[in-house]
Amino acid sequence: MMFERFSVKGYGAIVTGGASGIGLAFVEALAESGARVAILDVDSISLGKQVDRLSSRGLDVRGHKLDVTDRKAVDQVFAEVSAEYGRLDVVFANAGIDPGIGFSNPDGSPSEAGAIENYEDERWNRTIEINLNGIFATIRAAARHMKRGGGGSIVVTTSIAAYLNEGMIGAAYMAAKAGAAHLARNAALELAPYKIRVNAVAPGFIVTNIGGGWLKQPEVQNSIGATVPIGRIGDADDLKGLALFLASRASSYITGAQIPIDGGVSLGKRPA
Ligand SMILES: NC(=O)c1ccc[n+]([C@@H]2O[C@H](COP(=O)([O-])OP(=O)(O)OC[C@H]3O[C@@H](n4cnc5c(N)ncnc54)[C@H](O)[C@@H]3O)[C@@H](O)[C@H]2O)c1
Repeated sequence: MMFERFSVKGYGAIVTGGASGIGLAFVEALAESGARVAILDVDSISLGKQVDRLSSRGLDVRGHKLDVTDRKAVDQVFAEVSAEYGRLDVVFANAGIDPGIGFSNPDGSPSEAGAIENYEDERWNRTIEINLNGIFATIRAAARHMKRGGGGSIVVTTSIAAYLNEGMIGAAYMAAKAGAAHLARNAALELAPYKIRVNAVAPGFIVTNIGGGWLKQPEVQNSIGATVPIGRIGDADDLKGLALFLASRASSYITGAQIPIDGGVSLGKRPA
């Protein structure tokens, strides 16, 4: 049956940054399809709430408080989860932050704080530490366990910022996402002989809690949504189909890909 190729039933999965937004949509897509999912997140309050909510629906999820910048802790949690599940089939390296405005404000005016000459070390370092180094630590841990298990699928959340320049988005975010995208491709080449596939999803504007939830404001949604070719800003649920596709055998011959999921933003602005 064709649908069997999309099955993740019984898979052991890990999602970093899975207590909110896009990561939570990945967790739901996997768990609702019968996978066992470990949610790793630094925000213990959201983590507890989501684990309770999903468990009460009968889904097989567990939560681990984890900061992806703590390399030792990443290795420990991966070892624990892999031992508990007896397998590790799927890892979503998704945790990330938006460190604030780039060189332009949303209205196009110049932003002092985001200008390159004013860009603060603390902001640069924190972004690289979570959005790039955190992805490295996650892929490394995943590779160790998947090599032992004979294969798997790793999916990295990058962004259209990995290849498109946009003044509103900060310099560090751009650099980190481009780095994560290329790291994913390099890992895809290295790990292909071990039956481990590594792909990236590159979201456009998706309503989540990122950056203090600025995309939740109706006026921001309307103004940005009007420029998106499909005519609206995205919802985290829009990512579920792609998540299941990349996690499952349905994508068995795809590795090293970065798939935009952006309502067409990568193509240009919505024609009048
Ligand atoms: N929302 C968008 O428009 C958009 C667009 C492109 C890419 N992305 C990427 O999607 C990913 C998910 O972001 P989101 O929009 O769902 O945001 P979100 O803030 O709703 O969710 C991010 C989750 O990651 C967790 N997290 C943050 N730092 C962490 C750390 N150090 N260790 C562990 N967990 C940590 C947060 O607690 C939160 O639960 C990020 O990598 C982000 O860069 C988002």
